[in-house]
Amino acid sequence: MEQFSAPFHRRDFGEHFLWGVTISAFQNEGAHDHDGKGASIWDEFTSRKGKIKDGTHAQVTTDFYNRYRDDILLAKSMGFKVFRFSIAWPRILPKGTGAVNQAGIDFYHRIIDACIELDMEPWVTLYHWDLPLALEHKGGWCHRGVVFAFEEYVRICVEAYGKKVKNWIVMNEPFGFTSLGYMLGVHAPGRFGLSYFFPAVHHALLAQAAGARVIREMVKGANIGIALSCSYILPNTQSPGDIQAARKADALFNRTFLEPILGLGYPVEDFPLLGKIERRYALWRDRDALSFDYDFIGVQNYFPLVIRRNPFMPVVGVSEVKPRVRKVPVTALGWEISGEGMYGILKQFAAYKNIPRLIVTENGAAFNDVLTEGRIHDADRINYFVTYLEAILKAKNEGVPLDGYFVWTLTDNFEWAEGYRARFGLAHVDLETQVRTLKDSGLWFREFLHDK
Ligand code: NOJ
Repeated sequence: MEQFSAPFHRRDFGEHFLWGVTISAFQNEGAHDHDGKGASIWDEFTSRKGKIKDGTHAQVTTDFYNRYRDDILLAKSMGFKVFRFSIAWPRILPKGTGAVNQAGIDFYHRIIDACIELDMEPWVTLYHWDLPLALEHKGGWCHRGVVFAFEEYVRICVEAYGKKVKNWIVMNEPFGFTSLGYMLGVHAPGRFGLSYFFPAVHHALLAQAAGARVIREMVKGANIGIALSCSYILPNTQSPGDIQAARKADALFNRTFLEPILGLGYPVEDFPLLGKIERRYALWRDRDALSFDYDFIGVQNYFPLVIRRNPFMPVVGVSEVKPRVRKVPVTALGWEISGEGMYGILKQFAAYKNIPRLIVTENGAAFNDVLTEGRIHDADRINYFVTYLEAILKAKNEGVPLDGYFVWTLTDNFEWAEGYRARFGLAHVDLETQVRTLKDSGLWFREFLHDK
């Protein structure tokens, strides 16, 4: 592993810096209809023809439902201390509201207890995209009723686990599931258009703030956060058109959720279309209800974006100049590899006056791994981590209030519409046998984290 030694040490990040891994319920658990679990929008979406690129589903996926203890141990073996996972809402409330499924409650007790027993910190995400299908039938995120349903669900989880769990992430990438699922239709529930997107955004914001308030009220000493997707955005040229286009894209991708959360309202000045939400909901006097005093913001950055003005592009009037056109290094999903992008977005977030602490709650890369004689020599992934960690350390040393770094992800798993082809794990999974094999990147982390 000599050739992969990094230009920094673990200790450079500080003694209290948190190192973790992140997984999610739908991508890892499997057991899709076991022990009383209800269907989620993703169970339904994956059953539709042509929605998942490799034609797969997640009925079994990596079988975390049965293998959770070994997986937590695997994370521990590399030296991670934080184990971030999500709760599947339809496991707790099969119909989204009403009757509670005790077997679902018990399952997450088992995970949490295993974490505690193995001296790992459980970090719980309450919503990682698997809405109960029964709620989608009532309008899903487009219907205001979802806010109250979410609040009820959070209350049940907090009542059940609040004594054991202190670290809570209310929602994972709300921009991700509202834009991909309700505007572009490429993720569950497959809805298309702004008339779905806008209400979904607004209700997701209301729901997460309502959920966060429930945690604050019920869990003493809770550490409450929200995990936001973000990409540092650069204009393609310095022309006024491109600069304005970049600002618009930044407002949409990076600020649609962040600014309302911080009490600043929607970024309508740079993306005037968002004014539609403001006008539509002005009557409800929702602005205050959208914000919450989070203890931390989870930063989830994978790639930057280069944006140009494009008057032919409907709605937004901007388009991306793809990495392949710019001939920059990319991952297997064609995502640009850029430490500067991570650095830039951290600085951008840190520049808000009332920004809370930051934690990188996801970061990682898919590459075309090859298993040779029981090993995966994923030098590309190691270089990726070194590049991003170097950028993170630089930002931290310059005063960005950064408390931790969680890898996406522990094991290869179900990568939504990509299926299983995009492998992000530190451990390879043979989906036939469920055998886990640490990749060289996993071995690299083991060495890095043990070198105190
Ligand atoms: C975003 C999501 O939170 C996670 O579910 C996904 O697998 C990774 N990032 C990689 O795309």
